[in-house]
Amino acid sequence: MTDLTGRTAIVTGGARGQGEAEVRLMIECGARVMICDVLAETGEALAEELGESAYFHALDVTDADGWEEVVAKARDWTGRLDILVNNAGIINRSLIATTTPEAWRRVIEVNLTGAFLGLRATAPLIAAGGGGSIVNIASHAAFTGHSDPAYSASKWGLRGLTKTAAMEFAAKGVRVNTVCPGHIVTSLNRDGIHHGPMIALTPLGRSGEVGEVAQLVLYLASDASRFVTGEEFTLDGGFIAGAAYRRVAVETGAL
Ligand SMILES: NC(=O)c1ccc[n+]([C@@H]2O[C@H](COP(=O)([O-])OP(=O)(O)OC[C@H]3O[C@@H](n4cnc5c(N)ncnc54)[C@H](O)[C@@H]3O)[C@@H](O)[C@H]2O)c1
Repeated sequence: MTDLTGRTAIVTGGARGQGEAEVRLMIECGARVMICDVLAETGEALAEELGESAYFHALDVTDADGWEEVVAKARDWTGRLDILVNNAGIINRSLIATTTPEAWRRVIEVNLTGAFLGLRATAPLIAAGGGGSIVNIASHAAFTGHSDPAYSASKWGLRGLTKTAAMEFAAKGVRVNTVCPGHIVTSLNRDGIHHGPMIALTPLGRSGEVGEVAQLVLYLASDASRFVTGEEFTLDGGFIAGAAYRRVAVETGAL
């Protein structure tokens, strides 16, 4: 089992969904984890359940001053920071024709600017402790077009931000990578009507589980990946590997 004993992590959007699974797994592996989210009640309940290895801190990731408070709290709590998971994210689900400028800006602010602010605020403390790992949660929508323009643009942007940060922080021992999940059923999309078609197109024939994403995040957060930086890792049941060609092959009888 991966050992994160003595490590401190921050997971944004850690109150539920994939973030919650990442918090639980890192704590199982010995880390102390700050859960940062706008969902105060849910986050506090989770921290209480997990005991002294967890701490909830209310944060809107678009708030630069809020990030400074989070870093100060990490310093007070354990004196160090080793891992940041920029997981908080929202989706808008409207087309270019119907997306308002406000809705566009909010998705970009949360999904992309939030990660930038997190990198900027936390990298110095991670570096001061000898280095560590930052994982940005994008999406397989970071490789293709998508029905939500702001979501797609924000997730493509995260891949560029990741590579840029990886270059800037490499000499300080701070690695930065992107995880790109495919279709995972969470509160983000549970009420959507796209689940059947998504699963039908996914070569492995199912949705992913939040625990499966957490395992990949754990690998990137831990020393097991110590020579890995600036990369993106897709976890989507084969969707972007060629789902469209596979569908053509199935429909023409070749598969
Ligand atoms: N569910 C999927 O199919 C899927 C696929 C690919 C990528 N993702 C990405 O995975 C990440 C986690 O999503 P999820 O599926 O667990 O959904 P979720 O809605 O369950 O979790 C998102 C979390 O982010 C928090 N959050 C939202 N705005 C915030 C803000 N401004 N500041 C702080 N926290 C905020 C929410 O309160 C929530 O706890 C997101 O970045 C999402 O884009 C999800």
